[in-house]
Amino acid sequence: MPELSTTYLGLKLKHPVVASASPISKKLDGIKRLEDAGASAVVMYSLFEEQITHDSLALDHFLNRGTDSFSESLTYFPDLDNYNVGPEEYLGLIEKARKTVDIPIIGSLNGVSAGGWVDFARKIEEAGAHALELNTYYLATDPELSSAELEDNYIELVRTVSSSIKIPLSVKLSPYFTALPHLAKRLGEAGARGLVLFNRFLQPDLDIETLEVVPNLQLSTPSELRLPLRWVAILYGRIAPDLALTSGVHSAQDVLKAMMAGAKVTMVASELLHNGVSRLTSIVKDVESWMDEFEYLSIEQMQGSMSQRSVAEPAAFERANYMKALQSFDAKNIL
Ligand SMILES: Cc1cc2nc3c(=O)[nH]c(=O)nc-3n(C[C@H](O)[C@H](O)[C@H](O)COP(=O)(O)O)c2cc1C
Repeated sequence: MPELSTTYLGLKLKHPVVASASPISKKLDGIKRLEDAGASAVVMYSLFEEQITHDSLALDHFLNRGTDSFSESLTYFPDLDNYNVGPEEYLGLIEKARKTVDIPIIGSLNGVSAGGWVDFARKIEEAGAHALELNTYYLATDPELSSAELEDNYIELVRTVSSSIKIPLSVKLSPYFTALPHLAKRLGEAGARGLVLFNRFLQPDLDIETLEVVPNLQLSTPSELRLPLRWVAILYGRIAPDLALTSGVHSAQDVLKAMMAGAKVTMVASELLHNGVSRLTSIVKDVESWMDEFEYLSIEQMQGSMSQRSVAEPAAFERANYMKALQSFDAKNIL
């Protein structure tokens, strides 16, 4: 039997298929079902900065920049009292989960400013979470805000949170950075033990009849795997934090690719929401069968074997890939 175990954020996990943050973890029953299906760890759905701070309506200057004033943007937020459960319930759920399941529970905070709300990270730790994932979802719309300033803000946030807790911290990032490896390195230096690649930026749609901007959540498709796969392969071995791959993991093949690129774990949400939590069981089983068939002894042996550092043609992950891809299309002679 191949050895499926992996380590992530210093946690020993029985295999690399982790349940990503999703509504499934909003209830104790969902967390229990994830454990029963064999998830090696669960990332809780996120608690939002706005949920913690909305009493005072005081976010720091960073959120106030740009064309929208904070109060204007707040009117668009879902009714915060009814959005997810509140901060106290969130902590209560982590406590209950710790008493009910044996797999690691990773708390999740979604925020962008290093405001007073980061104390909440400590409360998540006290509630018993094994680790904390910080989801940084900020869209820069202000032409006066430079990428350097934005990145400094992230670094400050990570430094503040990581220095206020003892449990390991991971950072879930968007793919839209100009020089991702540099930022990834700095995040590691600021205290991130792991990077979760990537957040899916859900793009709004336009309703041309009602003239409304409508939120539009579509579950991921397997083709979305390519983006995090490429970046995991590029970052593997170059930066200190562990790499977790999320977005587009729907099958055992996807998990295996992520491992070969250099991820420590994969995080799955859409597949479980679409086909049920029990898919997790079959994905893990299929990973094991594939490894058996291809005579891999362990996940560890596989990790990074197809990273940019290991492959015969490192340029395949860079600009040359673009040219080759175009060439291969032309070669099909379908025009
Ligand atoms: C309905 C839904 C709710 C989600 N809620 C959260 C959340 O609260 N916090 C978070 O960090 N990610 C959240 N995600 C993102 C997932 O954790 C995951 O990173 C993303 O969907 C990509 O993985 P996938 O392709 O397996 O869906 C959510 C995704 C979906 C589909």
